[in-house]
Amino acid sequence: MSCTIIVGGFFGDEGKGKVVAHIAYKDKPVIISRGGVGPNAGHTVQVGDHKYGVRMVPSGFVYKDAKLCIGSGVLVDPRVLKQEVEMLGVKGRVFVDKRCGIITEDHIARDKGSAHLAKKIGSTGSGCGPANSDRVMRLSPQAKDVPELAEYLLDVPKAIDDELKKNNSVLLEGTQGFGISLYYGTYPFVTSKDTSASQIAADNGVGPTKIDDVIVVFKAYPTRVGEGPFSTEMSLEKSDAMGIQEFGTVTHRQRRVGGWDGDMARYSSMINGCTQAALTGIDNVDKACFGATEYAKLTKKAKDFIKQAEEDIGSPVTIISTGPEVTQIIDLRDELA
Ligand code: GTP
Ligand code: IMP
Ligand code: MG
Repeated sequence: MSCTIIVGGFFGDEGKGKVVAHIAYKDKPVIISRGGVGPNAGHTVQVGDHKYGVRMVPSGFVYKDAKLCIGSGVLVDPRVLKQEVEMLGVKGRVFVDKRCGIITEDHIARDKGSAHLAKKIGSTGSGCGPANSDRVMRLSPQAKDVPELAEYLLDVPKAIDDELKKNNSVLLEGTQGFGISLYYGTYPFVTSKDTSASQIAADNGVGPTKIDDVIVVFKAYPTRVGEGPFSTEMSLEKSDAMGIQEFGTVTHRQRRVGGWDGDMARYSSMINGCTQAALTGIDNVDKACFGATEYAKLTKKAKDFIKQAEEDIGSPVTIISTGPEVTQIIDLRDELA
């Protein structure tokens, strides 16, 4: 039996989608269940030349034998969900916990229309802040109140527990990142919920004693979208010159880029209870590493970077991503076990 949580260690967009997709193929979990805020997240999964952007369906959808769940803590926008289910052809294996909070058109209008959220914080405009606010006020509908979601409803914590009791593997997929946690991030420039591993467990109704592993995903050159402090930020001229240019999946805004932040990595590993780390974007440290699938093929510059990251994180880096495509990855978990 194993229950693994995957979360972001910096400001989100660390490449959790890609890491989850790889782990799904490799570990063959029976359930992949999403935690995190809601459709403000945008995961990119690239398989061969196909690039998918998902906001509601778990990134592990590429592994076809897994049940894909959305945990109780996550906000569901039924329009986004239905559109993705159709686009990805995953009908029949997507399930929504009956207690999920619902995002309405009104929440989206309030998010986009609020100078505080849209301008000062730089929210994604996906309605998550107002929907979580209504949920806390106990005003918002739940998934079980929405007829169009009837076919998806499930008691997700019970389904996960049943599989863990049968010794099957379950993957709990986090979204966003440590730096934008409502509790631990750069308040008020944060999202509307905690984003740490404990929250991802709670989002799925899985008690802390049932978690075996917490994989925290770090990006060699962290990025941030929206407003707020970013101590290692570099100028866009510099990051452009380094060949690092990213745009948000949800808002298409250009992401701010910064250097490795060892202090943040250490603190975020502590609060997430990191057992092992994934490091993405090693090809941005040294372009010669692009697409490498073996540790021995990495350059000294990349290996030195990984060594320093491990010291900062305080746990082994067991997964190294060398490009956006799902097979561009080095997985050392078996070797280091
Ligand atoms: P959130 O849940 O929204 O926080 O997103 P995420 O962590 O799933 O990351 P997202 O897919 O939004 O952004 C990561 C970006 O980096 C995507 O464009 C990926 O295709 C890309 N990416 C992932 N791994 C690598 C890598 O190793 N190298 C490079 N160059 N790009 C990568
Ligand atoms: P909200 O979650 O839409 O309210 O946005 C609040 C802040 O969190 C903004 O700075 C967003 O850019 C940021 N944010 C929310 N979700 C994500 C994500 O999945 N990745 C990166 N940043 C995010
Ligand atoms: Mg993203």
